[in-house]
Amino acid sequence: MSLLDKLFRRRTDGPPPGAMREDWDRRAREDYKLHIATGHAATEEAFRASGDKDLDEVILDGIALAREASALEIGCGVGRLLCPLSDRIAAAHGVDISTVMIERSKEFCASHPKVQTHLTDGSLAVFPEGSLDFVYSFIVFQHIPSREAIARYVREAALVLKPGGLLRYQVDGRDRGAHTPDTYDGVTFTPKEARALAVEAGLEIVEDWGAATHYHRITARKTGSEALASLAPHVWDRAFLDDLLSREGVATASPGDVVAGRVPLKDALRPLESRLAKASNEEFVKAAFRALLLREGDAAGVAYHLSILDGGFEDRGALIDTVLTSRDFKELVRPWDVPLPWPVKLRLAEVSRSNRLLDLTEAVASGLSNLSASGAVDRAFRLVLGRRPDDAARAHHESLVAASPLGRRLVVRELLASTEAQRDPGRLSPARVDVLRQLLESSRDEGDEAFLERAYLGVLGRAADPEGRAWHLGRLVSGQTDRSGVLADFVAAAA
Ligand SMILES: C[S@@+](CC[C@H](N)C(=O)[O-])C[C@H]1O[C@@H](n2cnc3c(N)ncnc32)[C@H](O)[C@@H]1O
Repeated sequence: MSLLDKLFRRRTDGPPPGAMREDWDRRAREDYKLHIATGHAATEEAFRASGDKDLDEVILDGIALAREASALEIGCGVGRLLCPLSDRIAAAHGVDISTVMIERSKEFCASHPKVQTHLTDGSLAVFPEGSLDFVYSFIVFQHIPSREAIARYVREAALVLKPGGLLRYQVDGRDRGAHTPDTYDGVTFTPKEARALAVEAGLEIVEDWGAATHYHRITARKTGSEALASLAPHVWDRAFLDDLLSREGVATASPGDVVAGRVPLKDALRPLESRLAKASNEEFVKAAFRALLLREGDAAGVAYHLSILDGGFEDRGALIDTVLTSRDFKELVRPWDVPLPWPVKLRLAEVSRSNRLLDLTEAVASGLSNLSASGAVDRAFRLVLGRRPDDAARAHHESLVAASPLGRRLVVRELLASTEAQRDPGRLSPARVDVLRQLLESSRDEGDEAFLERAYLGVLGRAADPEGRAWHLGRLVSGQTDRSGVLADFVAAAA
């Protein structure tokens, strides 16, 4: 793009703020919490907590930002997402069309000095080109009645991103028939149109999730590699997808069509809603949880969704959209394929050489098929986490095994994706991991005491002190950890 072209595009006038500003000013004065996060508006605490959760589960889902990174939110409201984001990075900017939202944001974010909010008339011109690592927009474009206004934000976001920077935006992807967009129910986008926004701005789409739902989310990258933002790779878990479509899709589409993006998953699952047409709201919520997440909904989750349905805030299609675009569902069907850290790799070396989520899931789950529910849970815990489950974890995981033929696989996936399994006690070179593997192998036929002596010498470079030896021995004997766990503790201590 030529410099003139760039200048011209940055000066292009979009639709005037007019009604968008007036209406959102009024809503901000009325009750900003309610209009921003319906369902989490009862207290300031609940409202702030919803920001923490959405930041983790939606905005940064699969995205890593360096501490020095700077980000921009389009349609930031009072800064519900910016405050927690600013705790993780160097600068968290926001723009909003509403004067009142921006005024309120100064107060709401007063204790977060790295947040800076600005009034906009529909442009991002206040930011220098190539200056930001990450730009995002969530539950905003769905309220904009003009396609051009949205396309302009996406185009300008592409300009203000650094090379390699990421843009994540959400649009309303529902088919709403004939509907006149306004400043609450804005324009909607077919899957193709939603993608075209990024492509026409010169960005490459790197993730596409929730097509045809209320929360169609596109993540796109600007060419280059300067930015301090990255997206984890993701894979389809065909076992879950195939099972889901064979149970609930009633052959509306093949899994291949869904994987190739020819049919949105939402469309393939439409029979689910018809199947439950006669159910009460409560039955509907519970059945939707069971069908899509393969588990009973937790009491708080069911109560929340029920209050939204009973209160008439959303319809059943919107509830399905919420579950389909939740992190839990995405993790099930299309998980992030982040390599597991070395302690898990070490622990599982006998069942698989790989450290990828799906390879390890297959390898561990294949050894569980003939075991009872409780035996399968024990073995999965021992293999993946190197310890016994506590009572609460055992009850939860046994219920997963009982709930579905894929239950054993689900237990393994949950454990592999847990924070405990993902914790990296310190990066190690493959050569160093090999040394640890040899240490484990050479002490295989020895007792725990002899293993501990070797571990102390091999990792900490000294003989075991009696207190330390007794502590680690106690944990090994009681099943709170295994030998790989001890090595991980030692490596962390030595780091
Ligand atoms: C539902 S709130 C979401 C706020 C924030 N994204 C969050 O999740 O906390 C929608 C926000 O979009 C803003 N908004 C509406 N139209 C806009 C536009 N054309 N440009 C920028 N912001 C807009 C509103 O003022 C409001 O603050």
